[in-house]
Amino acid sequence: MVTIFAIESSCDETAASVCRDGIILSNVISSQKIHEKYGGVVPELASRAHLQSIVPVTDQALKIAGVSLSDIDAFAFTQSPGLIGALLVGAEFTKSMSLALNKPLIAVHHMQAHVLANLIRPIYEKNKIPSFPFLCLTVSGGHTQIVLCESPLSMKIIGQTLDDAAGEAFDKSAKILGLPYPGGPLIDKYAKEGNGNKYKFPEPKIDGLDFSFSGLKTAFLYFIRDEKIKNENFVEENLPDICASIQSRIVSVLLNKLKKASRETGITEVCIAGGVSANSGLRSSFEALGKEEGWNTYIPSFEYCTDNAAMIAITAYYKYLDSRFEDLSVVPSARTA
Ligand code: KG4
Ligand code: ZN
Repeated sequence: MVTIFAIESSCDETAASVCRDGIILSNVISSQKIHEKYGGVVPELASRAHLQSIVPVTDQALKIAGVSLSDIDAFAFTQSPGLIGALLVGAEFTKSMSLALNKPLIAVHHMQAHVLANLIRPIYEKNKIPSFPFLCLTVSGGHTQIVLCESPLSMKIIGQTLDDAAGEAFDKSAKILGLPYPGGPLIDKYAKEGNGNKYKFPEPKIDGLDFSFSGLKTAFLYFIRDEKIKNENFVEENLPDICASIQSRIVSVLLNKLKKASRETGITEVCIAGGVSANSGLRSSFEALGKEEGWNTYIPSFEYCTDNAAMIAITAYYKYLDSRFEDLSVVPSARTA
């Protein structure tokens, strides 16, 4: 029996999880509300909020899992990428526990963990998990990647964004519409009531499996500016259709490249992951495309899509099985190590 305790602190969620033999026993997330009024994450405030939340989140994760610290076989943390001050809080806290309890320390890459969220099985439900090799479209606030995953610890990026991430495309579009940060979930909410074919936005022409969202953002900005000159209430009067239309273009850009990746590699086990995979338009269009293309499709449950520690714990579990441990000199890094 292997019991892992994991911390995630790369951005604005302080999260802790306990995983036993690959099954998640607890997944506690404290989302930092303080950033809302600044329209984006303020790094210094994020670090301070992590310091305040990390002990209560840890206590709760252990309590829900029904384990004590002495039951833990290894301690894991997010090493990179992320905000350096935020990562340091999680890293140093986890190192102290590893040192005090004399148990191995495991460092986890946040983007690898988003992909492996697809290997999480709910406790009583043996739901299907992808077999290897699989493709994963990983879409978050900072990354947009198509990853070819050969085994839990062996994956390579075969396509990625050249500029903005898909999450940024959502958040920046929301900002143009005057919606608060993070705007992705709000675009999703309003889009449910709207017509995604009402307004047409250009599809970027990028070779291969890479993405670009900066041109789409500029086209959207000019479109809204021009419509507001004609009717100053344009946004208020058409919010659902505007949200549905920009969402539908972002989703089609993502899925067209994923389709291309599957056809080029011949891989039909296909997953999505990362914060943007919580988007209902992406989830339903992904399932529909999967049916058309004959894929087996996999989407993590909502709680494992946005930042969470369960994905860090499951990744650490596979690292534990492969004895990939760190000594206490390990340091986090803001960029991918
Ligand atoms: O993976 P994540 O929680 O954090 C990072 O590692 O970046 O992703 C956060 C991103 C934000 O851009 C947020 O707006 C977006 O995911 N997001 C969504 C939805 N939920 C979260 N975007 C669109 N629709 C959603 N439902
Ligand atoms: Zn993330």
